[in-house]
Amino acid sequence: MSVILHVDSSVRAVSNTNPSHDSISKKLAGTFVSRFREEASIDEYIYRDVGVNPPQFITQNWIGAVFTPELKRTPEQQQILAQSDELIAEVEKADLIVISSPMYNYGMPAQLKAWFDQIVRINKTFDFDLARGDTPLAPLLTGKTLVIVTSSGEFGFGKGEINEASGHLVPHLRTVSKYLGVTEIHEIASEYQEFADHRHEKSLRMAASKATELASVLAAKLGA
Ligand SMILES: Cc1cc2nc3c(=O)[nH]c(=O)nc-3n(C[C@H](O)[C@H](O)[C@H](O)COP(=O)(O)O)c2cc1C
Repeated sequence: MSVILHVDSSVRAVSNTNPSHDSISKKLAGTFVSRFREEASIDEYIYRDVGVNPPQFITQNWIGAVFTPELKRTPEQQQILAQSDELIAEVEKADLIVISSPMYNYGMPAQLKAWFDQIVRINKTFDFDLARGDTPLAPLLTGKTLVIVTSSGEFGFGKGEINEASGHLVPHLRTVSKYLGVTEIHEIASEYQEFADHRHEKSLRMAASKATELASVLAAKLGA
């Protein structure tokens, strides 16, 4: 019994006339989700493609609305926060969150960052209390499992690897996912897309098999 929230963020489609244009991160996330749904009992599956339908960027009026007490918000402020409310409600419901992301300029796509900006919101997903000293922020949600699926053109962004210092995608996702209530994180990564060589083939194969294996493990754990 579980609710899955699946968020894709590549601007590329999962399937194109020319298959070499297909989104790798979306395809791998699809492999994970299909296997999970085969093996787990699901109450609800929520899907968002923020790469194709990006959330709005937040604005000064958005911040003003967020900091206005709920009962004092004008109809206009309520409208400004409507999309944020809807996206947060999806996160609140989810037991398992699957986020797939391409690496763009060493981090996440702006569209996915816009999704986080709409969701990480004071008194909804975190609160702020100076009584907690130098760590005043605390998440309000908890107990969610996150699967991060990434694809990059280059390689070696992991700990101790050649491009570790440029690898801002997974570390950033790990940091902000705390405010989605995530307490357990798994990663599936495909690298070397730009090299289009045997290393890319191998990386893709390994990522796909990790996706199916992890889906079975998590289905047994979360989907009973
Ligand atoms: C705008 C853009 C920026 C990119 N920046 C990087 C980068 O900084 N580092 C990297 O390793 N690959 C980079 N890439 C390559 C993508 O990460 C790679 O093509 C990946 O497979 C894209 O994900 P997708 O296949 O799910 O669309 C970039 C690609 C695009 C289109």
